[in-house]
Amino acid sequence: MHRLFVALPLPEPVTDQLIGLMDDGAPVNWQGEEQLHLTLRFIGPVERPLAEEIAAALQRVSLPPFELRLGGVGRFSRRRGGALWAGVAPREPVAALAGRIERAVQGCGLQPEARAFHPHITLARWSGPEPDLGPFLRRYSDLGSGPWAVSRFTLFESHLSRHGAAYEPVASYPAA
Ligand code: 2AM
Repeated sequence: MHRLFVALPLPEPVTDQLIGLMDDGAPVNWQGEEQLHLTLRFIGPVERPLAEEIAAALQRVSLPPFELRLGGVGRFSRRRGGALWAGVAPREPVAALAGRIERAVQGCGLQPEARAFHPHITLARWSGPEPDLGPFLRRYSDLGSGPWAVSRFTLFESHLSRHGAAYEPVASYPAA
């Protein structure tokens, strides 16, 4: 099985900026530079023929180029753990792209995504009760960046191990 997801890779100045925030010392498990991305659609484990069908369907998804910038930070907190993330702005073009990808993967027989799409770049995770993130969230509430051009999206395979997740780009879809 191949555990797949579709995401926007980030340009190096943006990953550098995000890695810089991680010096802050909040008690969480920070992502490594190679793990930073913005998920457009989590697909999950699929057999190779379906993976190939999805990879081909993604080729027909249009990507009019657009610009993004970082926009604030936030967290998802659940009983068993959570994630600290950086937001992006504007959200509309990312949500529109995610919607086109959603239709493409449903065309391959995948069940509709049940969760609302909330574009974010996961910076760190924790397990168990939420640690004290107040200082981090206050400090970076107005996080911003220069704009970057979104010129491609990428199909990644996630490899899970004791050492965490490694994300391997398997196909890249440039803007039309
Ligand atoms: P997250 O960063 O919000 O956890 C690879 O696992 C990527 O797919 C992660 O960025 C993760 O988002 C996203 N993802 C979305 N739904 C997922 C799920 N049900 N299980 C694992 N990852 C998921």
